[in-house]
Amino acid sequence: MTQDERQPQKNIDSKNAAFWDNLCGSQLAQQLGIEDDSAQSLKKFDDWYFGYYPYLYTHIPFAKMKDKRVLEVGLGYGTVSQKIAESGADYNGLDIAAGPVGMVNQRMGRGGLNGKAVQGSILEPPFDAASFDWVVAIGCLHHTGDLTGAIKQVHRLLKTGGEAMIMVYNACSYRQLQNSPITTLKRLYAKPETIADIADTSGDSKSRGAYDTNDEGDAAPQTEFVSTMELQAMCSDFSQCSIVAENIGEESLFKKMSRQRALKFGKAVGLDLYCHVVK
Ligand SMILES: C[S@@+](CC[C@H](N)C(=O)[O-])C[C@H]1O[C@@H](n2cnc3c(N)ncnc32)[C@H](O)[C@@H]1O
Repeated sequence: MTQDERQPQKNIDSKNAAFWDNLCGSQLAQQLGIEDDSAQSLKKFDDWYFGYYPYLYTHIPFAKMKDKRVLEVGLGYGTVSQKIAESGADYNGLDIAAGPVGMVNQRMGRGGLNGKAVQGSILEPPFDAASFDWVVAIGCLHHTGDLTGAIKQVHRLLKTGGEAMIMVYNACSYRQLQNSPITTLKRLYAKPETIADIADTSGDSKSRGAYDTNDEGDAAPQTEFVSTMELQAMCSDFSQCSIVAENIGEESLFKKMSRQRALKFGKAVGLDLYCHVVK
């Protein structure tokens, strides 16, 4: 799909602002029996989050962020935000929706942390070029409606030598292989410039709904899937780029496996791509 065939960015932004205002993670919080945003309840949520995604400690080097100017894009429940600020970073959060911004500012205020979140889009970020040492964007940029543009902004915002950790959804995960095997296999080996002939990179509502839904069961307004090769091409402005897959859902053959065991398969056919880039 060309940019002209896509919805105008303004429409996408307002749909995203409305959809994500209800914090992503709210359904999980309900399942965990969390009914308020007391410090104790948030700790329960955060412990679950880092327990379920243990590899986050490998991919986000919190300790290295001490005294660094860090931007996090896409805040959700604010678990990663709090951890970055607690590491002694100069923390800055950016999210298109008001709910996550409020949650993160509440966490910062309550913990007496050096940080602040603002509402806005990474596609038009309210920050100067070359002003951050680190950018962290977990599960966000593929929802913006313009993943390529969002990655370009991350590059622009980083100082030379600055680093980013970007997590986006894998177009060649076991889930995509199961749902559309031929397209996925073609895509795995296709050159990035031929992808448009093979597949629609923005998922239909069924495939988007397999990843993110709200309380009413509606899928996220926008979700773009990429293969490792496509993501590498999108990151070509950076001096270094390394990508690894992680994460397994709770469907099909993985249902009966322990999470620890299932995560080993994540390295080969995982749902998410963790992309570390250096400017
Ligand atoms: C799936 S949540 C991920 C939240 C958190 N990083 C996590 O892992 O739980 C996606 C987040 O990206 C935000 N988002 C979507 N489009 C955005 C944009 N254009 N600019 C900034 N944030 C955006 C949403 O509001 C939402 O908080």
